[in-house]
Amino acid sequence: MNALLQNVDRVLISQEELQKRVRELGAQISADYHDLNPLLLCVLKGGFLFLADLSRALTIRHGVDFMAISSYGNSTVSSGVVRILKDLDTDISGRHVLIVEDIIDTGNTLAYLLENLRVRQPASLRICALLTKPARRQVPLHIDYVGFEIPDEFVIGYGLDFAEDYRNLPFIGVLKREAYASSP
Ligand code: PRP
Repeated sequence: MNALLQNVDRVLISQEELQKRVRELGAQISADYHDLNPLLLCVLKGGFLFLADLSRALTIRHGVDFMAISSYGNSTVSSGVVRILKDLDTDISGRHVLIVEDIIDTGNTLAYLLENLRVRQPASLRICALLTKPARRQVPLHIDYVGFEIPDEFVIGYGLDFAEDYRNLPFIGVLKREAYASSP
């Protein structure tokens, strides 16, 4: 862990702030989806910790399923190129689907995902994003549940990675520039 921490410039959102906000989102979603048995669709990999905590913050019946989508590779810049690496196991026709994302940056990934999922005719389709960077948006998106709006900085931790590292940090931190600027 120390090797990871030395590349963190500063903590942007603490573990306590994250847990408090996830509990608030859980209460709000539980109220909004009462009796609807929603399916929480976790977008891997970054969404895995948020999904785990959000699911435990819900007080209602719900399902979980997972999709893996690649937009970044190991680069720090969104390419807009989206590939489905793993599709859902669940038939979402007639289901109330809530997409659970760690971060929305340009919006390209979500725009693609929404289009792909609407064809499957869910009863409803909404978005819950822990983090959003409004300054970076290239595609207009309505995000139904937002954890935090953040500035345009390279953030890691709580599921978010750089080249697969830092996902296990319990807070959202800003990565030191030298930690990624010299990387291929
Ligand atoms: C991140 C994030 C979103 C996407 C957002 O995933 O989880 O899926 O990028 O970026 P966009 O709004 O610019 O499209 P990433 O491709 O880094 O994969 P990972 O979750 O497996 O780390």
